[in-house]
This record gives sequence, C-alpha cells and structure tokens, in this order.
Amino acid sequence: MSDPQPVYLSDYQPPAYQVTHTELTFDLDPTTTRVKARLRMERHPGTDSKAPLVLNGEHLTLISLAIDGNPLSDTAYQLTDEALYIEEVPEAFTLESEVEIAPSSNTALEGLYLSNGMYCTQCEAEGFRRITYYPDRPDVMATFKVTVIGDAEGEPVLLANGNPVDQGTLESGRHFVTWEDPHPKPCYLFALVAGDLHKVEDVFQTMSGRNVTLQLWVEQENLDKTEHAMASLKRAMTWDEQTYGREYDLDLFMIVAVNDFNMGAMENKGLNIFNSAAVLTHPDTATDTTFQNVEGIVAHEYFHNWSGNRVTCRDWFQLSLKEGFTVFRDQCFSADTNSAPVKRIQDVSFFRTAQFAEDGGPTAHPIRPDHFIEITNFYTLTIYEKGAEVVRMLCNLLGWEDFRRGSDLYFDRFDGQAVTIEDFIGCMAEVSGADLNQFMRWYSQAGTPEIDAHGEYDYVNAAYHLTLRQRTPATPGQPDKLPLHIPVRMGLVGTKSGQDLTLTLEGEKLGKDAVIHLTEDEQTFVFADVAEAPVPSLLRDFSAPVKLHFPYSREDLAFLLTHDSDGFNRWDAGQRLAMLALDDLIAAHRNGVEKVMDSRVVEAFRTLLTGSMDDKAVLAEMLTLPSEAYIAEQQPIVDVDAIHAAREFVRQSLAVALRDEFVGVYKANVSDEPYSPTPEQIAQRSLKNVALTYLMSIEDEEGVALCEAQFAAGHNMTDVRHALTLLSHSDRDDLASPALKAFGEKWAHDPLVMDQWFTIQVTRPQSDVLDRVQYLMQHPAFSIKNPNKVRALVGAFAQNRVNFHRLDGKGYALLADVVIELNRLNPEIAARLITPLTRWQRFDEERQQLMRAELLRIKQEPLSSNVFEVVEKALA
Ligand code: ARG
Ligand code: ZN
Repeated sequence: MSDPQPVYLSDYQPPAYQVTHTELTFDLDPTTTRVKARLRMERHPGTDSKAPLVLNGEHLTLISLAIDGNPLSDTAYQLTDEALYIEEVPEAFTLESEVEIAPSSNTALEGLYLSNGMYCTQCEAEGFRRITYYPDRPDVMATFKVTVIGDAEGEPVLLANGNPVDQGTLESGRHFVTWEDPHPKPCYLFALVAGDLHKVEDVFQTMSGRNVTLQLWVEQENLDKTEHAMASLKRAMTWDEQTYGREYDLDLFMIVAVNDFNMGAMENKGLNIFNSAAVLTHPDTATDTTFQNVEGIVAHEYFHNWSGNRVTCRDWFQLSLKEGFTVFRDQCFSADTNSAPVKRIQDVSFFRTAQFAEDGGPTAHPIRPDHFIEITNFYTLTIYEKGAEVVRMLCNLLGWEDFRRGSDLYFDRFDGQAVTIEDFIGCMAEVSGADLNQFMRWYSQAGTPEIDAHGEYDYVNAAYHLTLRQRTPATPGQPDKLPLHIPVRMGLVGTKSGQDLTLTLEGEKLGKDAVIHLTEDEQTFVFADVAEAPVPSLLRDFSAPVKLHFPYSREDLAFLLTHDSDGFNRWDAGQRLAMLALDDLIAAHRNGVEKVMDSRVVEAFRTLLTGSMDDKAVLAEMLTLPSEAYIAEQQPIVDVDAIHAAREFVRQSLAVALRDEFVGVYKANVSDEPYSPTPEQIAQRSLKNVALTYLMSIEDEEGVALCEAQFAAGHNMTDVRHALTLLSHSDRDDLASPALKAFGEKWAHDPLVMDQWFTIQVTRPQSDVLDRVQYLMQHPAFSIKNPNKVRALVGAFAQNRVNFHRLDGKGYALLADVVIELNRLNPEIAARLITPLTRWQRFDEERQQLMRAELLRIKQEPLSSNVFEVVEKALA
C-alpha cells in the first residue's frame, strides 16, 4: 500500500455536480442498516460535460444503483475503497442508491455508530461518506428529507435535522419519522439520532416574536442534569440577537447528549449532538469549570447556526472561517455572562501554554493550512484558538461598530453559500475602508511571532523611546517569514504617580491607553511629554497572539502588579515575576545549589492577600502559579524534574511565609449558600480552594483538617473534587487512599464522575502512577473505545509531567501502546493522543532518544492516515 497523499488548497476546483435535494431513508439495524438515497443532481454550469460523476463512499456495501429509475449495469460505474465513479450522466438527473452499513462495528465514531445502544452520527468533516455515496464536500449544499425507521421499543425516539413532517407505525414492531430541513446544507451538517431518549423542553421567543421549541434529549438517568445547558442555550440565543442581530431560523432546536463522542460537540442543523461531558451538569457531579465549559460549548454550537451553517466553508482549508469566528463569539459571550477579566486570563493562559507549543512544534501550521493529509488532524488550537485571536485583533483594529457592520454584510451577502476567508475579510475591509492586505499574513504564516522590546526614558526631553522588533521563527515548510501587522495595546505607567500617562505620538494625543501598530521588522515609537519615568505596560489584554520580551526588573513587575490599570497585565506582571523567581530556582536545582525563595515574590503575594482587591475571581488567578506546562514552554530545554521541584518549592515557601493569611482567606470564603454557578460563588470557591492548595502543600495541620472536612461535607463537586485532588496528591497515604476509595465507590454508577476519579489518580506526582494507570486500564469503568475514558486516563497521564517523562521510558511506551491499539479502533483519537511524543525536540538528549524510539515503533505499524500524518511530521 502506498503512503497517504496530501490534498492542496491550490488544487481546489468547484464541484462538477451539485446536489439540489437529498432524500434519505434509514432502516436501522445494529449490523445491517440499509440506507437508501435519492439525490436530485445537476451539472454545475460551465463545467466539462464529459466530467464523470465522482461520489465519495467508504466502508459501504453497495446494494443497488439507478439513474432516473434505470438500474446501472456493472460496467456503467467503477468502485474503489473510497469512491464511486459513473462515467456518463445527464445534465440533470436523479441518482438512487442503496447501501448497507454496520453501526455496531463502527469504533471510529465517524458516520453512523452506536453509543450505549443509541444510534447517532458524526459527519464533520468527512464522515457522511461512511453513510452513503455522496459528494462529501462542504460546497455541495442541498435541502434534506430524511426518514428514519427503527424499532418502536428499542428506538422510541427517531430524530434528524429540521422539522418532523410525518410519522407512523410499520409491520413487525417498527415505526418511522420523516424530517425535513428546508435550509440547504452541506452533508457534514447532517445528523440522525435514534434510541431510548428522554427530553426536557422549553420555549424561546425570538426577537421577531416567533416561538421556538427547545429540546434537550438525554438518557433517563440524566434528566436531572439538563437545567444549566438549557438556561445557557436561552442566554446564548438572546445574546446572539442582541450582539450580532442573529435570529434562530427553525421552529425546533434540539440538543442530544451521547456518551461516545470524539470531540466536544457538533453543530448539525437544528440537531446539535454533544459529548455528554460537554452538556450534562449537576452541582453534585460537575465542577464550576464544567458548568462554565458547558455554557461556552452550548453557545459555541448554537452560534454556528449562522457562523458555519447559514454561511459555511467552501472547503476544509477554510475551517478557521467558521471555527475562529465562532470561538471568538463564544469567548465574548462567556466574558459578558461571567467575569470578563478572568475569562480572558484563563483563555490566554491556556493559549500561551498549548497553542504556543503547537506553533513551535513539528505539527505547526497556519490558521489556513495550504495542504493536509487528514482533515480531522486539523481541528487544532491553531485553527480554533489562534483563529479566534486573529478575529479578535480584527475586531479591535476596526472597532466594534465597523466589525459588526462587516459581520452583517458577511451574513447578508453570503447567506446560503459556501465561502472563503477572503470573503469574510473582504466584508470587513469593505465596510471599514481598512487595508487588510498585510493582516492576511496571519492566515498564511505559521509560528508564534516574538517581539523584542526595549525602552528608554529621556529625562532631558521628557520623552520615552520604545523600540519593538518582531521575528517569527521558521516552521516546517516555512523557513522565511514576513513581518506581520501586530497591534500592541499599551500604556505608560508613571513610576511617581502610579497612573497611566497620556500618550503623545508624533504630535497626536492618543489618550492613556492606546494601540500602536508594529508592521515592520523594527520600529521605534517616541512618546513626547512624558513627565515622569514610566514603566511600559505592553500588549494589554493580550492584544496579539505573540511572545513579548521586555527586560522588566522585578521591581518593575511588582510595580505593575499593583498599579497597572489593565487587569490582564496586572495578572501577567505577577506571572512574569513568578517566572523570574522560578528560573533562578530551576537553575539552582540543576546545579545542586540550595534553593532560596525570592522575598519580592513573597511580598507581592502578601500585598495581594492583605490588600483591598475586591475581584475575588481575579485575585484567585493572581495567586495561582504558572503551571508546569507553561513554565516548560519558557525553557530552552525542558527539565521536568527541576521545573516540578522549583514550583513545589515556591508553593511551599509561600505557604510557610503566608500561612495565616491563607487560613484567613480560606475561612473568609466558606459559604453555606446552596450551590449555584454564579460568577460570585465561583469566585469565592476558587479563592478558597487556591488558599487550600497552598496549605496542603505544607500539610499544615489545620489545612489538612479543613481539606478533610471539605471533602466529607460534600457540598458540591467543585469543593469535593478539589479536596480529593489535594488529599490524593499528598504524600500521606492515610489521606489519599480512603478518600479515593470512598469517592470511587460512591460514584461507580456515574461515568462522567468516574472520568474525574481516573484523572485525579493519574495526575498524582508520586512515582507509582504508571502502575496505577495500567491497573486502572483494567477497571470495569474503563473502556478503550470511549474517548472520554481514554482522555481521562491515558491523556491525563501524559500531562503528568514528572511521571510521563520517566527516564526509563515506560511512560512513553505506555502511550505508544495505546496509540497502536487505537490506531485500529479510532484513528482520530489515536492521532491526538500522540501529541506529547511529537514534542520530543524540547527535551534532553536521553528523553529525545526514548520518545523517538516510540514514534519509530508506531511507524512500523500499518497506520491510519491520521496517525501516519502526525508521526511523519514528528519524525521529519
Ligand atoms: N464543528 C465542531 C465544533 O466546533 C467540531 C467537529 C469536530 N469534528 C471532528 N471530526 N473532529 O464544535
Ligand atoms: Zn465549532
């Protein structure tokens, strides 16, 4: 077999044939589902009349084929493993086919599969070709009429996109429902669900006064976990009307929760399908973080109804057109609904850890890639999160009003069409008159730009000179980079007044907080009338997805930590200050020198703890040290042990020095209010739990007692899970074992809670974790076929830095074994799981060898195109 080959953006051709209307009939059966398709097709005007008709199809058994009612003879078509070719077809015709598929043996979870006895589908990006022969590409858009036939007893509920138009009973205990979706859509938005489902229902009145029925379908035992998702959906619908003027366009909107799902959720028209982990919540089983994620994902999928469904992508290279924009929309929604500064801090802190690592590794790719082998490998942090950062920059460059006018124009002009990133940017340029040519490079250039900044205060002339130099490191296939348009939001904070000074640039007063534009390799900005020596506050609110280097002293950072008017940069100053201390300690650890805690960090934390900061949510973030993964990102060569030791040392030193303050903060934030996921309550719990984390790091007697009490009280999963994590990550087995055992027994019946139980155990710092992973992989609650379980156990273990990177290589070998097994069962999940191994170049020689050896071992296998692509890149 030859290696899988890439497809190129530059090879794009419009489809030769369009499908204008699609009729499907599913006769469901676990092993032999019959799918009949009736496609109304036309040749695209201007295309070659001799062009053969090419339909995608994989894992299908063809039963019959006819054009305009005439069965096709064997010689009239050609079949391969991936496609069906018909040599000659009329200008316009009806193609009828019947195929057989086997949902029960579909472990890839693409196409039609069974999850817990329930039929469901996942078609984005190219899963529809596992359902029937079809031009499986997003620029083919049709109206759909779908009949689902199932067992009246086994599958009492039969769902598909759009509105139900017919239903009835059939012979031998079968029944059917017919659905019609009037909005033309690409087949990746097709969905079908059938099973023993139960619903909660609500109504939303749209801005034009139409009533939309909202339904959330779950397994019976989960009916009590739907309230928050439903409330989130209604908030999202209102927000999209008020913020973007977007109204929902069908009479029915459905969400279904399924247990086996490769990703978070899917925006199928009128019938969103969710990973149960991304939709179910209950105070006793879900943490604050889950409540917030659910709200964000429900909104994300709903927002796709316009940014993705009504206006979709011409081809999969344009994926960020819908994903970057939609992530930006859901981020703004969450910021408006919760604490905006905390949302930004959390998003950026995740982005700078995980997306920067992707951008700096062998799988780095532009937001719009120019080629790929397997599109499912491109549902990445770059396409989604960096894509969102770029849309955010655009919004800030244009200002909200022009951005909104551009968005209106885009939805209006391209409604019902499959379009490109140029079409989107073109609307923005058209309404604003802005020249976005250089800005477009953000879409084609991979890698994280770095800015080296330095500043000088000229006392004599009361001027401040700020020089910014940009460079983007080479990435695979892109050795040379051009300068980008980087908006740098900034202020100059006076060291005497502690206030933002007015920024005057080339005679123009810009205010106290302004954006300067770095467009060349190097630029110097001279600010006039700067009456006192300032400390610059740069890249406020993370105004561009770049790495900023400025030679701040620790005094500068301590000053910004308390004086910066930008909440994000106050937090960032604290992170930078902690990083400087951590760097010293990492060096000390490596050199075997005694570690000494930087008193400036202790004093900065004391100021925070005793100060008057009333935003508890931000305070909790400011008291949180950079994660080991983030610290690793900052090191030239990652030394996992030194990083772990240094971070623990800082944590313990702070806990010792500020013990009473932490106890005080803990006690001040205990509450017996009934649980509610409000921003106020979430802030209080975060702050309390951060304090507890410090106390537990020194196994403070009172801290341990508080932690045990918090665990035992069982008020809500946020507090219980946090306490359990601290107890089970402590070195004291008398704390760890009983708590884990009690929790595991109490929640054995709840798969989503068991996922948390797995994760807590395999992220312990203790060295027996590898054995525990192997042991837990045999646990009855674990299944290699369920992506949530794989992520919770194996994926989480690979994030356990000290244990995954063991020097005997057993952590790497375990991961590779699982990848090899999943390569056969679920290639999409297998390819994602390899990520930590692809980062081998960041580690010492010894670990590099071990990681490469595992990649080479994987490469020996007969590989899916997914895993092949990742391994090839990682070893290139
Ligand atoms: N469009 C979906 C979302 O953004 C994700 C679909 C992912 N599909 C896949 N095969 N990985 O929510
Ligand atoms: Zn999306």
